[in-house]
Amino acid sequence: MEDAYVIYGGKPLKGNIKLSGAKNIALKVIIASLLFENEVVLHNIPRINDVFALLDLIKHLGGTFEFNNNTLRLQGKTLEKNRVDLLHGSHLRASFMLFAPLLHRFKECYVPNPGGCRIGARPIDRIVDGMKQMGVRIAYDSETGYYHATLSEKTHGTYRFQKPSHTGTELLILLGIMGNGRSVIHNAALEPEIDELIRFLNAGGAKVRRDNNTIIIDPVDSLSQKEPFTIISDRNEAVTYATLAIATKGDIVIHDARPNLLKKFLAELAKVGGGIEKLEENQLRFFYKGDIKSSRIETAPHPGFMTDWQPNWAVLMTQANGESIIGERVFENRFSYVDELKKVGAEIDYVKLPVSDPREYFFFNFDPKKKYNQTIRIKGQQELHGGALTIADLRAGATLAIAALIAEGESVISGASILERGYERFVEKIRMIGGSIKKYD
Ligand code: EPU
Repeated sequence: MEDAYVIYGGKPLKGNIKLSGAKNIALKVIIASLLFENEVVLHNIPRINDVFALLDLIKHLGGTFEFNNNTLRLQGKTLEKNRVDLLHGSHLRASFMLFAPLLHRFKECYVPNPGGCRIGARPIDRIVDGMKQMGVRIAYDSETGYYHATLSEKTHGTYRFQKPSHTGTELLILLGIMGNGRSVIHNAALEPEIDELIRFLNAGGAKVRRDNNTIIIDPVDSLSQKEPFTIISDRNEAVTYATLAIATKGDIVIHDARPNLLKKFLAELAKVGGGIEKLEENQLRFFYKGDIKSSRIETAPHPGFMTDWQPNWAVLMTQANGESIIGERVFENRFSYVDELKKVGAEIDYVKLPVSDPREYFFFNFDPKKKYNQTIRIKGQQELHGGALTIADLRAGATLAIAALIAEGESVISGASILERGYERFVEKIRMIGGSIKKYD
């Protein structure tokens, strides 16, 4: 058996977890480093498959780096190719952010249609629109699957996102920094990961500021790092271990968990009766303190309940006291775990919620001709049992692992490498809190 976990569940998980660096900050900061003139040193870079995939891409483009333990030293000046490798690029959603360093270095580049987790169509129409407003000429060649982009004379602009885009906002910031005039992004996304990227850029000399959902970028001639930058912890990883603590009736202290980045999750968890205790600054204890109540949540961009948290939440709700509802507004197809959970005893079905204007309500491009399944109903107090499960996307992966750790008996979960796109030392961490897990590789 390849690429699978074998898990024996049914035990309360207890102990300490130290979070790793945030995937969705690390990937963007690594790409932004390619704009810098000097060597960039980054601490707390997680050793996860998405980071390795990005580094392979960068190596292919001629970038040079050393990655020891969790410290990455990276040189963007050595880039020598302007065409992103199709195989690697099409597997990593963040790869289209490479437009910025490649245009900066070569004024022209080729980037494949981005991939990433299979959680819906994930088009980049708004982002391409924004790039055009920032002075990039860009065209898609459907035969090769590549975008071809060139810089025009005016490399700055103003753009209003019709609906916010997290990575789109980040790409436009990177394009604006090296522009030849002020750029302004309206209706920019509010995710804190973007603010960490801005903090990194400004420490290297950039002039980027946020005024709520407006971002103003004044160009600079060059960027250079003055001191090493440390990636903050991963809030999605925090949610996974917090959920594990409550769902297995355990007790886990999470170190380096930042409550201000988890506000909506903590509020919902408190509402359903999960035990939460702040032990120290950035140290949170999550523990089972009795029956979990059912809930109704819907996902939204920050500061809402994050889409990345709902798959974990769903498995917790299989243990709740009553029927729960989860509505997904940000991505299509983020319920790949539903059929898998049903295999181990969960009772979940799709329901339709009356939505007055779906084009407004959903953050993806809603097509009235398409059939969507965006809301699930979960029956509570289900006794989960072991089974053979398959991971289809990253967050679904953690969800299936939580289910297997709740369930009595043996489970085999295929697709470990998908979970490990985003979770560092997963097996080791689960064992540290008393879980029984083995990996076949
Ligand atoms: N969208 C479009 N057109 C665009 C841009 C976005 O239709 O031009 C749609 C997307 O398909 C999606 C919605 O708009 O339905 C929101 O997309 P957004 O661009 O905000 O998301 P993203 O940048 O692709 C990032 C994270 C996700 C995280 C979301 C929300 C990275 C690499 N990915 O996605 O993380 O869920 O923001 O915060 O930063 C994960 O880590 O597992 C993950 C999926």
